[in-house]
Amino acid sequence: MLAAAPSILDPAGPGARQIESLWWPMLWISTVVFVVVVGFLVRAMARGRRDGYDTLDRDEPKWGEPFIAIAGVFIPALILAGVYVYSLRGMNELSDAGSDPSFEIDVIARNWWWEARYENGAVTANEIHIPVGETVRLNLISEDVIHSFWVPELQAKTDHVPGHDNHMWLEADEPGRYRGQCAEFCGLQHANMVFYVVAEERDDFDTWVAEQAAPLEPRSIPLSVAEGEDLFLTSSCAGCHVVRGTTATGTLGPDLTHLMSRETIAGVLPNTEQNLRAFISDPHPFKPGVSMPPTELSQDEIDEVVAYLRSLN
Ligand code: CUA
Repeated sequence: MLAAAPSILDPAGPGARQIESLWWPMLWISTVVFVVVVGFLVRAMARGRRDGYDTLDRDEPKWGEPFIAIAGVFIPALILAGVYVYSLRGMNELSDAGSDPSFEIDVIARNWWWEARYENGAVTANEIHIPVGETVRLNLISEDVIHSFWVPELQAKTDHVPGHDNHMWLEADEPGRYRGQCAEFCGLQHANMVFYVVAEERDDFDTWVAEQAAPLEPRSIPLSVAEGEDLFLTSSCAGCHVVRGTTATGTLGPDLTHLMSRETIAGVLPNTEQNLRAFISDPHPFKPGVSMPPTELSQDEIDEVVAYLRSLN
């Protein structure tokens, strides 16, 4: 489920298609150049052998200096200029940061996770939902160091630079789940700074984003998890995490209001009860270096907190 390696050569949206349309011609052009150059090299080596190394007074080469000017300067300049103009055209289309977007999402990168904030108040982590076939504008924000937002199947990399918000757009052709990855080395858990873009039909997206925007409905919390809730709200958990609608208002870690609607824990583990228990006990085996410390709660208390978190739909 979490292992699929995405490729820019498997585009699922107009952004990645643009890159693919640049990648293939450049591969073929460089292949032709490589074959021609190696051909000349092999020919020169063969001649060197045949003539021996002591015959310095050779005939003038047939094409002489014009050949060097044409094959060594003119043709390479033509190829490089052509590729340059062609890639500028592509870059232009990619950097047109969603001139007519359906809506905007703030994507905030932190060591080492992603937060997505929607215009209606929805907040989620390591998972960005978008409606299929619509252009969505992204405001890429960093809260600490430089990160880079990259969804190979959908769009080019764009850096999150502290103090300078960047912009990018996303669009997917088909419903699906596209893996994203931080593409700028940002510390110990750079490789595990993973997220997923979930593209879904408009109706499904509308339902999702409305649910995510809603604070926790206190009545929806079953009595059986009251002790876990109490532990969560009074322990250090609430110092770093928000559960909207409760007294937990920490902002250092991910918003947990609708934790159970997410497919992963911290982008790296399937969101199961067992993984949740293990991650709370000590997240460091899964994401070494994360800010979240191992818990000081007892095993029974962890079970109660897990039961509470499992009720957060
Ligand atoms: Cu964030 Cu690499």
